[in-house]
Amino acid sequence: MTSEERMASHLASVVSGVGSFLPPRIIGNQDPPLSELDTTAEWIRSRTGIERRRWVDPGTSTGDLALRAGRGALRSAGDPVVDLVVLTTTTPDHHSPATAPWVAAQLGLGTVPAFDIAAACSGFTYGLAVADAWIISGAAQCVLVIAAETLSTITDPSDRGTAVVFADGAAAVVVRAGRSDEPGAIQGVLLGSDGTRQDLAVVNAGGSRRPDREGLADPADRCLRMLGPDMFAHAVRRMTEVSRQLLERLDWPVESLGAFIGHQANQRILDKVADLVGVPAASRFANIREVGNTSSASIPLVMRDLLDGEAVPCATRTLLTAFGGGAVWGAVALTWPDVKPSVEGHS
Ligand code: UT7
Repeated sequence: MTSEERMASHLASVVSGVGSFLPPRIIGNQDPPLSELDTTAEWIRSRTGIERRRWVDPGTSTGDLALRAGRGALRSAGDPVVDLVVLTTTTPDHHSPATAPWVAAQLGLGTVPAFDIAAACSGFTYGLAVADAWIISGAAQCVLVIAAETLSTITDPSDRGTAVVFADGAAAVVVRAGRSDEPGAIQGVLLGSDGTRQDLAVVNAGGSRRPDREGLADPADRCLRMLGPDMFAHAVRRMTEVSRQLLERLDWPVESLGAFIGHQANQRILDKVADLVGVPAASRFANIREVGNTSSASIPLVMRDLLDGEAVPCATRTLLTAFGGGAVWGAVALTWPDVKPSVEGHS
């Protein structure tokens, strides 16, 4: 459906519930194991904007976080009947099977279709795009999109380029069929990828290209390696481009944006993108200082915080944008939802 057809039909996917869950263990910039690295709390704060982050305790999985966030989102939406569960993650519980069916079963959703989406830090924009497409096509009336990550399980604690940045957390939204003039209605989606840049952020061993059945791979190859400055430059370029393109397609002047939420990769990236796009200062929102880079969970975690504080008026024009390894990127435009987040799980 073109954007003109979408507007004419008034059919839209509407965000109607939000939940989140953060694991309780807080790691400050001066806490072990970061204190054992060749870095300083001040370097981390000034170069990334991060002051603390959450890491799971051993034994807690992505699915465990997803379950708590998903339950919160369902409660917040009034426990609707769900037709589809989509779980976005870089750190599934297993190589196989997907994590989403287990989460759906634990949530008591029976035999509902459920699958994972692997789109790295852009996962939430991809997840919303899938939910939107199912709803607009009539294949679903109500979709639970969960973004859940335990990046600490694939981070090398001795690598200062990733250990100081990545973090764990989960957030979820319920998206239901509704009308385009309702608060929370998705107004447009734009996604992209560049598979020639797999090298930007990659776990080299353990996949089918380089199986590690015997566990002989260098431990560093079993963890996420990132070309930080290269990733930085691409993140700025792609998030800026895709934001501008979507605003242009919708004919939304940037000054009309009341909320701009970028993937919480690095505060300096967020500032650069917002500057280049021309987002008004009052419309820029972030929580990276408190939670670090939680990959696909980062955007809905900010949404959750803002809804908690009633910081954004209902129906405000909102733009979400993300960039991640792959490389993949995306933007979603919506109006700010009229939702009370569930109180469960967010401290
Ligand atoms: O979530 C998916 C998207 N993710 C991203 O987009 C992440 C993008 N990248 C980044 O956020 C940043 O590149 C990092 C935070 C990973 C690194 O920050 P940077 O400002 O790009 O540092 P750099 O790699 O350019 O290094 C600058 C200097 C170097 O020292 P010299 O050569 O100038 O002496 C590094 O060796 O900082 C040094 N350095 C550090 N020093 C203390 C790099 N990491 C650290 C560190 N502590 N943790």
